Amino acid sequence: MKAILFETVGGPEVLQLGEAPIPELRPRKVLIKNQAIGINFADTRFRQGQYVMQPRLPDTPGLEAAGVVEAVGEGVGHIAPGTRVAAIGMRTYAEYALVSADQVMPLPDSVSFEQGAAFPIQTLTAYHLLHTCHQTSPGQTVLVHSAAGGVGIVAMQIAKAAGARVIGTVSSDAKVALAQEYGADAVINYESQDFAEEAKQLTDGKGVDLILDAVGQPTFAAGLKCLAPFGHAILYGQAGGAPEPLNVFGLFQNSLKVSCFGLYTASAIPELHQKGITESFRLMEEGKLKLLVGKSYPLAEAAEAHRFMESRQSVGKLILTP
Ligand SMILES: NC(=O)c1ccc[n+]([C@@H]2O[C@H](COP(=O)([O-])OP(=O)(O)OC[C@H]3O[C@@H](n4cnc5c(N)ncnc54)[C@H](OP(=O)(O)O)[C@@H]3O)[C@@H](O)[C@H]2O)c1
Repeated sequence: MKAILFETVGGPEVLQLGEAPIPELRPRKVLIKNQAIGINFADTRFRQGQYVMQPRLPDTPGLEAAGVVEAVGEGVGHIAPGTRVAAIGMRTYAEYALVSADQVMPLPDSVSFEQGAAFPIQTLTAYHLLHTCHQTSPGQTVLVHSAAGGVGIVAMQIAKAAGARVIGTVSSDAKVALAQEYGADAVINYESQDFAEEAKQLTDGKGVDLILDAVGQPTFAAGLKCLAPFGHAILYGQAGGAPEPLNVFGLFQNSLKVSCFGLYTASAIPELHQKGITESFRLMEEGKLKLLVGKSYPLAEAAEAHRFMESRQSVGKLILTP
């Protein structure tokens, strides 16, 4: 099969289209013929050898895909060949992906393969940030960093659907209108403005109840200054670098809460994982959540797609088509 392979860690240019064997079916696994493959910021870190998992060179990036079930392994009873699905897995930048059966999610008829590939990582991350790590409710103000990005676009809509007021941050004015279209009540350009100061002003000095931060450096420490009493900051990534170590005594003054989130924690708990899937598809059916595919590339152009994501110009979800 055709697959993206990299033999050394490095810049986008290490990603090359090559040939790899179709993965061999094993018990409790599902073989998917990919129709669309989701690109995640984490893939750029994996390519650089800076992700939580190290590549086994030569390796293939990719954490999710959507397609049609080709075959199921022994012990898989609930998914039949021919079913349209999306899944979380590994090495998905390829024509086929072998994934664990418990990470396969059948797609509603109304959800396209492209939307399906945009769903598993970013949508479930946004859902669990707002409804598992935090109980987002009407009257709260949620600040979403990198609001026009993949997770950001989804998180703003899920926060709005929960009745919250949303403040988004973006790094360029070109992204402002899009952030507004996808749920931001106010947008701050955090490259040109002091976002913490702006957020304070937008909340009449009270501060925000929740911050979703996958930038880390320099946003995380600054964010603590614009949290409301009992406010909560969740760190779930470090696109800008790891934040400085936290002095917990600094949280006393406003009784603040800081937590971290990794999707693998939620997706390993079956009831919680299923709840995130069901609730997110429900929001899509109700028209409250629209997945934005910002750009789609042929599989062979994975390097170009990574370059675009790292340029900070991309919006919504980037997709590869095998
Ligand atoms: N913990 C988890 O389980 C989990 C799951 C999914 C994603 N994440 C994290 O969530 C974040 C968003 O992921 P995504 O896949 O949806 O990507 P994305 O938002 O589409 O792209 C990353 C965004 O990060 C922002 N950014 C800020 N500083 C940056 C820097 N120094 N270099 C490059 N980009 C920078 C950029 O937006 P602006 O320039 O507008 O800020 C960029 O568009 C990533 O940090 C990712 O690691 C975590």
